[in-house]
Amino acid sequence: MEEILRMEHITKKFGEFYANKDINLSVLKGEVHTLLGENGAGKSTLMNILFGLYQPTAGQIYLHSKPVHIDSPATAVKLGIGMVHQHFMLVEAMTVFENIILGDRKTKGIFIDRDARKKEILELSQRYGLDVELDKQITEIAVGAQQRVEILKALYRGAELLVLDEPTAALTDIEVEGLFKIMNKLTEEGKSIIFISHKMREVLHISNRITILRTGETVCTLNRGETTGEELANLMIGRELTPSQYTKVTEPEAPVIALHAVDYHKTSKHNGLNGVSLQVGRGEILGIAGVDGNGQSQLAQLVTGVIAPEGGSVDMKGSRVATFSPNGFILENVSHIPEDRNKMGLVGNMSVMENIVLKETDEPRFSDAKGWHLKKRAMRAYAEQMQQKYDIRCQSVLQESRNLSGGNQQKVILARELENNPDLLVAVHPTRGLDIGATRFVHDTMIAARDKGCGVLLISADFDEILEMSDRIIVMFEGAVMGEFPGTNPPIDQISLAMAGK
Ligand SMILES: Nc1ncnc2c1ncn2[C@@H]1O[C@H](COP(=O)(O)OP(=O)(O)OP(=O)(O)O)[C@@H](O)[C@H]1O
Ligand SMILES: [Mg+2]
Repeated sequence: MEEILRMEHITKKFGEFYANKDINLSVLKGEVHTLLGENGAGKSTLMNILFGLYQPTAGQIYLHSKPVHIDSPATAVKLGIGMVHQHFMLVEAMTVFENIILGDRKTKGIFIDRDARKKEILELSQRYGLDVELDKQITEIAVGAQQRVEILKALYRGAELLVLDEPTAALTDIEVEGLFKIMNKLTEEGKSIIFISHKMREVLHISNRITILRTGETVCTLNRGETTGEELANLMIGRELTPSQYTKVTEPEAPVIALHAVDYHKTSKHNGLNGVSLQVGRGEILGIAGVDGNGQSQLAQLVTGVIAPEGGSVDMKGSRVATFSPNGFILENVSHIPEDRNKMGLVGNMSVMENIVLKETDEPRFSDAKGWHLKKRAMRAYAEQMQQKYDIRCQSVLQESRNLSGGNQQKVILARELENNPDLLVAVHPTRGLDIGATRFVHDTMIAARDKGCGVLLISADFDEILEMSDRIIVMFEGAVMGEFPGTNPPIDQISLAMAGK
């Protein structure tokens, strides 16, 4: 088959650090080529080079055997390369339609033939089954729909080679199936896809070939049919990973938090909370299953003090909560791994160190008696200890956290939120975007917290994660509790039905 892309001897240095080192990658026409590697292995960096966002320190890119110089994303687009980034780049204040035509040269000038453009986009969307509502604002549509907008945008600009950097991390199982259908359709038409995912099942399902990266270098390229999940894991992290099997708790202790018929409707009825009663006991993991957008975000906000109930009441460790404020809840020893690490979890232009000690700058060990002179050395030593313990891959704890790879940013949040022995841990999609080793680490750490008496409220769109981790499972649908199920031998069919509102 025809080779459409060859990246040869690509090296990218940030300062003295090699994010990519002598990488070779060859992509054929009509294939799904997966890049597999641990958090920080250099996958996004390599793709950002292909898309003209970074210039390689060394190396050469060939498209259809011709050497090319990709000096900007505009050039990449002209050359037929499209990219859906790990962190979406849609403009929230605009509609779907405006986002798709943004930067399109056909629309330069004042007179945009909106109807003609719309027709063109709708034809594309029908051809590939990319359902989008063109007149909605980006903020009004679900993550899965935003994903489709990004893909549609790339196709509209004429992409022949599409890079999908962790497109499934934030999607539900059903949305992933939809995406895979679209990907199959695209490759049938001769387009090529570079796919990045940490989910082994997906990788084995959709890829034609798989290239493994490890610490910035290529390990090898394999045909899907000739490998197994175990072999891939081994090549990727350099060790075997045996399946985890956590023991389940059936008799939790007294509740850390209890909700009594809580109502919250400020947003809309469907994603508010409708008479929600539930409790999280000390020493148990309560898993909330359900399709995203059925009140999970509001539940997480409520139990972290961000929003207050409009009806009903909340007890924390046996006392009625009178005021709801995030700080008050932090003082009650509630920890939070938030849904969106970039918006809520990390301060991007602060260092890894500052982010790790963010909540504890008032503590005596990090400040003097007056609390204004931060003990930088103590902070740094502590941060470095956490870097070790949580295996945060960064050049230094003084590095800005926004330059860390996605998975490593998540580990910074975990170090901050899990180290202070919380009474209640609210974990929202805690392993989203993490590699298999890091995911195992987070799961083990959550189990250890539980076993020390922490109550854990686990909200996750990853059904496997809910089943594996939860001592008890509650399904939410349209803001209400649809059912409660045991975590030991969970009745999967019943849970799935409840998730669909049946
Ligand atoms: N602008 C930058 N400045 C300094 N270091 C950077 C920059 N961008 C990336 N890095 C570093 O390069 C390495 C590779 O990062 P990259 O984002 O490519 O990893 P990745 O394989 O995509 O990981 P993940 O699976 O977590 O998304 C990381 O150690 C990261 O900290
Ligand atoms: Mg990445």
